[in-house]
Amino acid sequence: MNIIILGVPGSGKGTQSKILEKKFSLKQLSTGEMLRNEVTSGSALGNRVRKRIHSGRLVSDEIIINIISKRLDEKKMSKGVIFDGFPRTVPQAEALTDLLVEKSLFIDYVFELIVDDDSIIERVIGRYSCKECGIGYHEKFEKPKLEGTCDKCGNHDFVRRNDDTEDTVRDRLKQYHHQTAPIIAYYSDAGLLTRVNGMTGINEVTDKFNEIIQ
Ligand code: AP5
Ligand code: MG
Repeated sequence: MNIIILGVPGSGKGTQSKILEKKFSLKQLSTGEMLRNEVTSGSALGNRVRKRIHSGRLVSDEIIINIISKRLDEKKMSKGVIFDGFPRTVPQAEALTDLLVEKSLFIDYVFELIVDDDSIIERVIGRYSCKECGIGYHEKFEKPKLEGTCDKCGNHDFVRRNDDTEDTVRDRLKQYHHQTAPIIAYYSDAGLLTRVNGMTGINEVTDKFNEIIQ
């Protein structure tokens, strides 16, 4: 099973991808996470894209399509993939269709998480993750069970993303509405799109996904 999750920054793509990944033994492919890992590792690619990511601008289609194409060939992807944050432009969506045809694969579901722009700032500004294991939290919506201690690994150090400032989030929202929103029609025309209310709690959104998949 292959799934695409679309939605504005902070709509819950990463949160839901991680839940579906476990439940259905799929592999999450987050282009944002891959790019952030390149930046952290100091690779040539990371240095090329650092500024764009930190300022909330999209990285070129060519770089993104190249990364995805390589990752799809890995064996661990064979059970199915959740595309999180990809595609983000019409050329990326078209390239994905071509790549999947080449590999005799297809997309089963495209979910668009619908969340008001007004709620997004609070969601993104309050987000942080464990420095050690990377698991995500939120100051209000997803707190660790014991304050200041990671549920998964017990670490006490947490980090925030460089692009999670209020100004950058506003720019990322603009990018989504200008460059990514046109792919909604692309998948709607293909009969693959389901819109899901992302304004409810995390568990309610997951229940909705499960209901559609089952
Ligand atoms: P990327 O990492 O994809 O960021 P994004 O799309 O801006 O989305 P986020 O990761 O910020 O949000 P999310 O939807 O995953 O929400 P989350 O689950 O964390 O991309 C980053 C950058 O990389 C881009 O700006 C661009 O520069 C580059 N890039 C990446 N892909 C690219 C591509 N294909 N082409 C070109 N450039 C690309 O949730 C947010 C918070 O809200 C969390 O704290 C969570 O706990 C909380 N939350 C989640 N769901 C709920 C809920 N239902 N109720 C309450 N709180 C909730
Ligand atoms: Mg994310």
